[in-house]
Amino acid sequence: MATDTEPPIQRGGVRSRTRAAIAAPHLRTDRWWLAPATTAAGLLAFIAYSTWRAFANADYYAAPYVSPFYSPCLAHNCRPMDGGPNWDLFGPWWGLSPALLILIFPLGFRLTCYYYRKAYYRGFWASPPACAVAEPHKKYSGETRFPLILQNIHRYAFYAAVLVAGVLTYDTVLSFRDADHHFGHMGVGTLVFLVNIVLIWAYTLSCHSCRHIVGGRLRHFSKHPVRYRMWQWVGRLNARHMLLAWSSLISVAVCDLYVYLLASGAFDDPRLF
Ligand code: FES
Repeated sequence: MATDTEPPIQRGGVRSRTRAAIAAPHLRTDRWWLAPATTAAGLLAFIAYSTWRAFANADYYAAPYVSPFYSPCLAHNCRPMDGGPNWDLFGPWWGLSPALLILIFPLGFRLTCYYYRKAYYRGFWASPPACAVAEPHKKYSGETRFPLILQNIHRYAFYAAVLVAGVLTYDTVLSFRDADHHFGHMGVGTLVFLVNIVLIWAYTLSCHSCRHIVGGRLRHFSKHPVRYRMWQWVGRLNARHMLLAWSSLISVAVCDLYVYLLASGAFDDPRLF
């Protein structure tokens, strides 16, 4: 029977009767807010930059480089200058920036990523703000209801991300050309693209879904030595998933910024050979 001193019964949440009745919001004495605040600031900076670039619909191609935000150029109005690739599959796309068509896939992959979910739940929704710090919300239904139940599409987003990484690999190969499309050349931009594609693949393959795909649903690793090897390799990457999530996010923005600066005439790509 409830007494006056007992907290009200709630379904879930840290004030539920089944949890320890601690009045203080937390007992931590360190600067626990620093990590979620830094995370939120970093994500906001990327959102602001990528939104500006995605809607710009300009300065996304500087031979031989195409911005990863606009690749592959699938819409009619994605017209790179100087003979860049344009697959022209989607008509005029109603005048909207073709980057909006492309970015759905990497965005869906990152939005549903296990690491990013933790990052933005903490950074933006304070759910919870940090370990051992009570969240301010009265109810907690986890990811069991709409819209968060849609996070379960992550495995399918992984398959799409593999395709995107394949396209960016193709772009990196094309970056070994000069402005006249002859192979066997390299500029500083080629190095920028190379670093980016290594980080994109490392992040993609470090995905928890990838780890399950290569090593899950097996009874005996001893009968699947190749998958065991792959699982170990993906597991090593997976241990650095947060680091790879941030470094690949930064590298893709730097890659786009480099193309933007070249395309807008800020400087010429220094050629190495
Ligand atoms: Fe982060 Fe899959 S868990 S990309």
